[in-house]
Amino acid sequence: MNILDGKALSQKIRNNVKLEIEKLEENGITPALAVILVGDDPASKTYVSMKEKACGEAGMYSIVHKMPSSISEKKILEIIDMINHNDYIDGVLVQLPLPPQINTTKIIEAIDPKKDVDGFHPFNVGRLVSGLDCFASCTPLGVMEILKEYKIDPKGLDVCIVGASNIVGKPMLSLLLNAGATVDICHIFTKDLKAHTLKADLIVVGVGKPGLITEDMVKDGAKIIDIGINRLDNGKLVGDVDFENVAPKCSHITPVPGGVGPMTIAMLLSNTLKAAKGRDEK
Ligand code: GUN
Repeated sequence: MNILDGKALSQKIRNNVKLEIEKLEENGITPALAVILVGDDPASKTYVSMKEKACGEAGMYSIVHKMPSSISEKKILEIIDMINHNDYIDGVLVQLPLPPQINTTKIIEAIDPKKDVDGFHPFNVGRLVSGLDCFASCTPLGVMEILKEYKIDPKGLDVCIVGASNIVGKPMLSLLLNAGATVDICHIFTKDLKAHTLKADLIVVGVGKPGLITEDMVKDGAKIIDIGINRLDNGKLVGDVDFENVAPKCSHITPVPGGVGPMTIAMLLSNTLKAAKGRDEK
């Protein structure tokens, strides 16, 4: 059984991004990311400060626009418009979730698709589905990087994705399908989850349910990517897979923590670098 080390890979990618930024600097370009953070959700605040720190370490500018949860949709749209028109900002990210009075779709659709480093704008989602160059959602993109690093070619594999969210499951489906996999995508209404997971050469799970994937649901020699991040009552961080019992059956598996988690920020930096490289085309 091989552990897929996302922590080490994320560091390697972040170092490469840093080197590429040093080269861009010689041409007078410093990649810059603008982040919009609305309200005081503790998890969102933590994620945003991690993103800020990662930008700084890579030599990228970042600016965080912090707003109270009472802010109007109009005001957020005005700020996005300002960022869209700022030639020195390459990427814009609106940390989700937004408060209930804000229409999240309207906010995402206001972002210039060329600065949509989260890959959430329907323009980028459509291009991803069509197999065209685009910004793809960072977590599924990170999964693809892990597969590449460990020379796991999705072509011809039977894959089972568990979780069909816009941020993770659906872009994961497109990326794997575009790479030649045969993909099942399961969700809350799936009648018999085990029937799908048992067939899979590769299981990708990200629903936020500790212990969802048990030993009896996995075929011998399967590969597992666990995107779940769950904090147990005892403080322990676990994924969606019963790691202890499932891992011995697998040929490859990601741990939690240290698997997919660190890849998300690495891919955000990589997407922002890509946006900065395209500055002239804007
Ligand atoms: N909230 C949870 N995950 C994400 C993410 O990847 N990007 C943004 N913008 N918000 C999130």
